Amino acid sequence: MILHSHLDTNEQGHLTIGGMDTVALAKEFGTPAYIMDEAAIRARFRTYLTAARTHFGENALPAFASKALCFTEIYRIAAEEGLGIDCVSGGELYTAKRASFPAERIYFHGNNKTDADLKQALDMGVGTIVVDNADELLALDALASNAGKTQRILLRITPGIDPHTHRAIRTGNVDSKFGNAIVTGGAMEITKLALSLSNVRLVGFHCHVGSQIFDLSPFRDAADIMMRYIADVKRETGFVTEELNLGGGLAARYTEVDATVDYADAIAKIAAIVRNKAQEMDVAMPRVILEPGRSLVAEAGITLYTVGGVKEIPGFKNYISVDGGMPDNPRYALYQSEYTALIANRAADPADYRATVAGRCCESGDLIGEDMPIQRASRGDILAVLTTGAYNYSMASNYNRLPRPPVILVRDGVARVAVRRESFEDLVRNDV
Ligand code: LLP
Repeated sequence: MILHSHLDTNEQGHLTIGGMDTVALAKEFGTPAYIMDEAAIRARFRTYLTAARTHFGENALPAFASKALCFTEIYRIAAEEGLGIDCVSGGELYTAKRASFPAERIYFHGNNKTDADLKQALDMGVGTIVVDNADELLALDALASNAGKTQRILLRITPGIDPHTHRAIRTGNVDSKFGNAIVTGGAMEITKLALSLSNVRLVGFHCHVGSQIFDLSPFRDAADIMMRYIADVKRETGFVTEELNLGGGLAARYTEVDATVDYADAIAKIAAIVRNKAQEMDVAMPRVILEPGRSLVAEAGITLYTVGGVKEIPGFKNYISVDGGMPDNPRYALYQSEYTALIANRAADPADYRATVAGRCCESGDLIGEDMPIQRASRGDILAVLTTGAYNYSMASNYNRLPRPPVILVRDGVARVAVRRESFEDLVRNDV
């Protein structure tokens, strides 16, 4: 096993994913390429679904936050496995529709949904719209009225967890661009407004505290604050909350230093907190929705590149240059995210070399990682970056007019294309 149980080496010392030789996959599909272990994705979907139902109750639902990884086939897989999805744009909704994803299991998010987005969601019969602000709420009520519908909604609430206490948290704080803060009275105000409208049906509340979180304490705090809020709303308005969406945020393992998260155990612990709070506050246990993105798909994916050159600058650093970079993985450039890299055709060798893995774009910040432990490399080797299943393909760009890599799914010894490699013709398709 290398970092994750679906990664290993074979007799030739090559890296394998789901038992398949990555060097052979690179040859067959070319590089750069995203390779994903479908069994690992399905297994994680099931872990979440089973744990959510066991600990929160049969009606609990994990909704895959598809901003982490979006293409038609992943929605088909999520549909087959019985999950819901979180969509944040017309493009994600359109892709979900193309996959025939059951619309009633879609949660439509975003802090600035346009009228066109809202109309699209109403037309598609999206199950739940997570309303961010009062302007959107009023616009939705009017559009739903025109369409002769009553739309099921949740309100996005910012629980006001201090980001200085939990550094990983960036979205649940009071001054966030998302949602409505409890402490300022904004949350109660929009709740009353929603209850006064006739073409939206308020069913509950949503919060999301942040991403890549190992420590359970932010979730504990969020559950505590949200259940208190639910009790306050009941006291002040009589409204009984049917549904509580606790967002996503559990971490994935990027390097050996990262802990392995026991997701079922984490869900059990969060469920215990919500149940205790419900009892303590004397409110009914709501139906709970979880919204994981990264923790469902990150570990399943790897990216394969071909090494172009190795440059050693004595006394400074060593560079290994690959045929991709920030257009297919912008996460180091954006967040200095740590990854594990290895030379796939020598994966069993010790990683006794250190190199900065550089992309092929015309800027110095185009790096996959700095001073990474790795095997010695030379031109033509296959370099694998692990844990790239989340926020890589979905954040990819065409910077420097580079075509986006394909997404290949491997399962039971079979590799199939889920997203084709972009061609140069694709790049100019909209040029006039
Ligand atoms: N729900 C909401 C409302 C969210 O905003 C997010 C992520 C999630 C669920 C899923 O969170 P997860 O389980 O994946 O942590 N591009 C960044 C991550 C941005 C996350 C944005 N929101 C990255 O590459 O690290």
